Amino acid sequence: MIAARVLAMVDERQGYVERNGIDPGFAYPDANWSLGSQNAFAALFARVARCDQEVIGQLRAFTQVFTGHLLYEVRRGAPILESVAPYTDEVVADALAQRNGPYIEAWQRLTANLPLRYLVNPPARFGEIGHDVGGIIVNHDTFAYQERVNLLVESGVVALLDRLVIERGEIKILEIGAGWGGLASWVKRAFPSCSYTIVDLPECLLFSGLYLGLTQPALSLGWGCDPVPFGFRFVPNYAADALQEPFDLIINTLSMSEMSEVQVRHYAALLKAHWLALDGLFFEQNQDNRHLGFIRARDILAKELPGQKSLTLPSHELQKGMATLWSLRSADPSQAAIGEPITEMQNETYDLFLTHAWRYHEDWTRFGDMLDRVPDLSWRNFSVPWYDPAVDPNTEAGGRFIRQWLESQIAPVAAVIFLDGVYATKSARKWLDLELEIARARSIPVIGLAPVGQTEISNEARALVDVAVGWDPGQILAAVDKLQAAKT
Ligand SMILES: C[S@@+](CC[C@H](N)C(=O)[O-])C[C@H]1O[C@@H](n2cnc3c(N)ncnc32)[C@H](O)[C@@H]1O
Repeated sequence: MIAARVLAMVDERQGYVERNGIDPGFAYPDANWSLGSQNAFAALFARVARCDQEVIGQLRAFTQVFTGHLLYEVRRGAPILESVAPYTDEVVADALAQRNGPYIEAWQRLTANLPLRYLVNPPARFGEIGHDVGGIIVNHDTFAYQERVNLLVESGVVALLDRLVIERGEIKILEIGAGWGGLASWVKRAFPSCSYTIVDLPECLLFSGLYLGLTQPALSLGWGCDPVPFGFRFVPNYAADALQEPFDLIINTLSMSEMSEVQVRHYAALLKAHWLALDGLFFEQNQDNRHLGFIRARDILAKELPGQKSLTLPSHELQKGMATLWSLRSADPSQAAIGEPITEMQNETYDLFLTHAWRYHEDWTRFGDMLDRVPDLSWRNFSVPWYDPAVDPNTEAGGRFIRQWLESQIAPVAAVIFLDGVYATKSARKWLDLELEIARARSIPVIGLAPVGQTEISNEARALVDVAVGWDPGQILAAVDKLQAAKT
């Protein structure tokens, strides 16, 4: 079905372009994917479109074209595969033993102290190979995508999205040129409440469609511009002009660097006209490909988008190109729309987790409203009472997913706010007990609050918390400071 949809999109391209007067320079692929010649990329598409057992079983071996990395040989370079037959277990194990070490080391440096939620964790499907490090398959691509995720975390984009999830329930993300979907896969798992759109050459939507559709089968897939709430929507690049809606985050990595100037300008115009909401962000990481006769996307974007901030990572030199966060706001990068690095914010920001049982409880909402009204207070709510409805918490895998999801919300915080009003509901207790267990295992202080409208916390709750305080921001923050100081 996925291949059939993609093949139809490829077939419809010429008619669509002609009927709608789309600039052919924008609609038809450039660089690696340019049509006309019997090039290896076109051959790869034809090979994968057969969707036979070998392709589906080992799809990841056929994704070298997006990463420049031959997964089963653990090295850079061609060829574009026709078959994986030569790669026996021994051949792959030998290549890993010889050449995977540097990727593991680089990955370990990037992930030291990162909460679980921020770890790129490729599913053990489609012939993914690498070293198992603490349950994560680590290879060149795991490292490469981790670099992108670290940039999103460090730049404050992830925190911003978390806030938007709380405020709106649904967030909208667009990726231009998603390759086989490696980054999309992480984003969708980290933000189950995002609706994820991919604009790509239809040939490449085959790869991302197969990978994302088959690794996250419970999610809805859509082909074309109709909305797919909380699912994946695949839009062929030639129909990009028909996508006229704002997104909270737009992503482009290692993709504009292989486009023509006409194509990048066209995307910049779409960003300005429709895709970048006034408070939206465009995260872009691309190589400078001028030495190969291509462009440096940043030069073109800088002329079009007023707000820009270069991103870096502490003690890590970026391997996959210069990274920039763009916005429609002022050119002054200190403006608030462009996230401040989390490391700079840590000393002055209160990171809190409010106990929840996967519903927006009145006390939960009130607490947020109360702190939001305190002038000059910087605080972040790490509690997201929402998970992917496709996950069944009663299965072993579902239970594990939910525990990890909670751990990733609780691990980074300075304190857990224990809402007795939520605890009063019997069915909520198993979740609050689990949240407490996670907090205790990490020595995170727990501060109790009575139900709204009551002055006293219940005896049961009092026995569970470190301290009980009133609904008063001053008292609450003083308790956080005190308990934190006692920890150190
Ligand atoms: C080198 S891959 C990078 C894939 C992925 N973003 C990553 O970081 O691994 C380049 C991606 O850009 C896409 N691309 C190339 N030209 C494009 C265009 N004109 N419009 C949209 N995507 C395009 C390719 O199809 C491919 O998905």
